[in-house]
Amino acid sequence: MNKSEVRGKFHELFGTDGKLFFSPGRINLIGEHTDYNGGFVLPGAVDKGMLAEIRLNGTDKVRAFAYDLNEYAEFGLNEADAPTQGWAKYIFGVCREIIKRGGVIGGFDTVFSGNVPLGAGMSSSAALESTYAFALNQLFSLNIDKFELAKIGQSTEHNYVGVKCGIMDQFASVFGSTGHLIRLDCRSLEYKYVPFNPVGYKLVLVDSVVKHELASSAYNKRRESCEAAVAAIAKRHPEVKFLRDATMDMLNEVKNEISAEDYMRAEYVIGEVQRLLDACDALEKDDYETVGQKMYETHHGMSKLYEVSCEELDFLNDVAKECGVTGSRVMGGGFGGCTINLVKDELYEPFIEKVKVAFKDKFGKECKIYPVNIGDGSREINA
Ligand code: GLA
Repeated sequence: MNKSEVRGKFHELFGTDGKLFFSPGRINLIGEHTDYNGGFVLPGAVDKGMLAEIRLNGTDKVRAFAYDLNEYAEFGLNEADAPTQGWAKYIFGVCREIIKRGGVIGGFDTVFSGNVPLGAGMSSSAALESTYAFALNQLFSLNIDKFELAKIGQSTEHNYVGVKCGIMDQFASVFGSTGHLIRLDCRSLEYKYVPFNPVGYKLVLVDSVVKHELASSAYNKRRESCEAAVAAIAKRHPEVKFLRDATMDMLNEVKNEISAEDYMRAEYVIGEVQRLLDACDALEKDDYETVGQKMYETHHGMSKLYEVSCEELDFLNDVAKECGVTGSRVMGGGFGGCTINLVKDELYEPFIEKVKVAFKDKFGKECKIYPVNIGDGSREINA
């Protein structure tokens, strides 16, 4: 992603200049598939994301150019005007969700480009949604608060993309803060910035370069399993609204009333809600060994109980363990994408060397390495 390239293209297409807006992708240290279960997450924005140049055009049409795909789309703002291109649906969805909330908006011209890897589990889509939600809020003086901006992105996924995601990705993208993780209670949306400066350690993502094609339907299926478990538990314990409210004892009471698969999914989530709380306690004491241990436990649960890992990700996790990496696990929704690794400084180089070679030997393709820098959330960028 290059600011001058975006600006050059915008000028070429529209003969003028607009304003620049940026929103980041995210990492998540621990707390996976807990957001739509009312649990906690611990994400942070990264220094990579989506950059868009935008200018209101005084019409009722959006004219949009995806720089990285070299594709153009033009669409109106009514429900019937939905564009056909996948990427344009995100922009259209954000517009529609703003309008549904009573926001009065009009047409605009835009060019966007990103440097957050697509399909790597770093939420390039949330970055795109947050960029346009933030920008349109500002350009049309809508006075929508940051919580609602995040929800606009989430509703875009639900209603225009078909992924019944939680709030984590959009929240992290909008609320990110350099040097901090965000401990977010996804039930109340209460959040706290947790300083994250693990002296002596680095965070690095290793991308399996696997992109699971059925990820969105498999993701929605996981969510249905959780809801089925909650429905069964709530018959005896009406106070349970989310798996976050349930205990293993409650789950065991309904073991024979739900499928074995739904049981496994719920078992993972109940464990993960607690693991996140344990990891947060450990972080307060700078106890990174415990944080790392929890990350490995999460990987195990995501692989064996929630079944959102894959051969490549399990292999990356094994190599990390062999190299003495403090913590490692599949990050994000899963079914492909990255592992997130907490590595002691002195083991960093040997780990990276080893994992590159081992992955190539095993799968005949290169994994990719992304060092993590925790950055700020949605913002306007000075031209
Ligand atoms: C995806 C979703 C999030 C969250 C994660 C898993 O990134 O968009 O809402 O559920 O998967 O933790």
